[in-house]
Amino acid sequence: MAGLVMKALILCGGKGTRLRPLTHTTAKHLLPVANKPILFYILEHIRAADITHIGIVISTETGNQIKEAVGDGSKWGAQVSYITQLEPLGLAHAVKEAQGFLSDSRFLMLLGDNLIEGGVTEFVGQFNTYAPEALILLKEVLDPEAFGIAELNEKGKVSHVVEKPKEPKSNLALAGIYLFTPEIHKAIAQIKPSWRGELEITDAIQKLIEMGKQVSSHIPKGWWIDTGTKDDLLKANRVMLDNFLKRDITGSVDSQSQVMGRVEIRQGTEVAASTIQGPVSIAEDCRIKNSFVGPFTSIGVGALIEDTSVEHSIILANCRLRKIEHLADSVIGKNTEVLKREHNSRVINLVIGDDARIRL
Ligand code: DAU
Repeated sequence: MAGLVMKALILCGGKGTRLRPLTHTTAKHLLPVANKPILFYILEHIRAADITHIGIVISTETGNQIKEAVGDGSKWGAQVSYITQLEPLGLAHAVKEAQGFLSDSRFLMLLGDNLIEGGVTEFVGQFNTYAPEALILLKEVLDPEAFGIAELNEKGKVSHVVEKPKEPKSNLALAGIYLFTPEIHKAIAQIKPSWRGELEITDAIQKLIEMGKQVSSHIPKGWWIDTGTKDDLLKANRVMLDNFLKRDITGSVDSQSQVMGRVEIRQGTEVAASTIQGPVSIAEDCRIKNSFVGPFTSIGVGALIEDTSVEHSIILANCRLRKIEHLADSVIGKNTEVLKREHNSRVINLVIGDDARIRL
């Protein structure tokens, strides 16, 4: 009998090329927004939908980091299993590799780098109530060529899905959240790699349609963010800080400083002679001195910010920013130092990792 227990599968394989150089050292799924790794939001969403058996597809490159961060899942009251995908051969390939874990269960599949407002509970409820073979989440986008795209017929049913079409017939993108019955494995067994060499889950869903199975869709009202690029990451940070941050100051703030609005200053952090204008999240053990930290900024553990103005940015752990007049719209990787040279020299001095992007 098809498994009654619903499982969840999170895809955290792939190479994260669009987020280099950050992804040279950190799995993109562990990059923080509002000082919490993206993957942790996803785990919380899954648990809120009452699913406890979770499989995470990992790559050989970043799998160990993910294992270290998530462990056995007990922090979330879940049982987490890991499935190593040796090569990123596509989302349907990842499902194939996870078949041992999924067995004959119905399952929720999420891309480990996508965030959705309000989580997945409503979506799972809809699947349980109407029991289609697949339920896909759709969202209108401005650049449909960059996504899997669904066409709906006049009755609002999914009639056709296609991966990254050159000439899109709709602007409804597959938003990286799917619900499947075990029928999907039969469909995957019948598809071939696409032009980009990947086994596409979109092709498997199209195969389900051709097999006469019911594929339903849900278009949520709230936001959905695919955090694939730097600007998407900043957007996710902005949205998370805007929607969820509460004022909570456990670090120390001296009498010459001003802290305005919804600001989180965690333990061990010292703010001196500075202005912090929320929403801002500052993690543990930072030192902020004679600086301005403006809206929509997240600062990671152990950072030092001195004589600097920064806003709308993500600063990762242990960075040092000194004498920077105005840093904005930036993502700065771990352990990075950015400082202005003394004596007004026009010479620029850089030690930059591979694939960095600098605008001077
Ligand atoms: O973001 C939504 C889009 O995600 C959908 O509209 C597309 O239909 C879907 O194919 C996917 O497109 P992307 O090109 O954006 O997928 P990406 O390669 O970024 O991979 C998405 C996630 O899945 C990412 O967290 C890495 C993981 N992944 C990817 C591949 C190719 C795996 O775990 N294994 C893989 O083989």
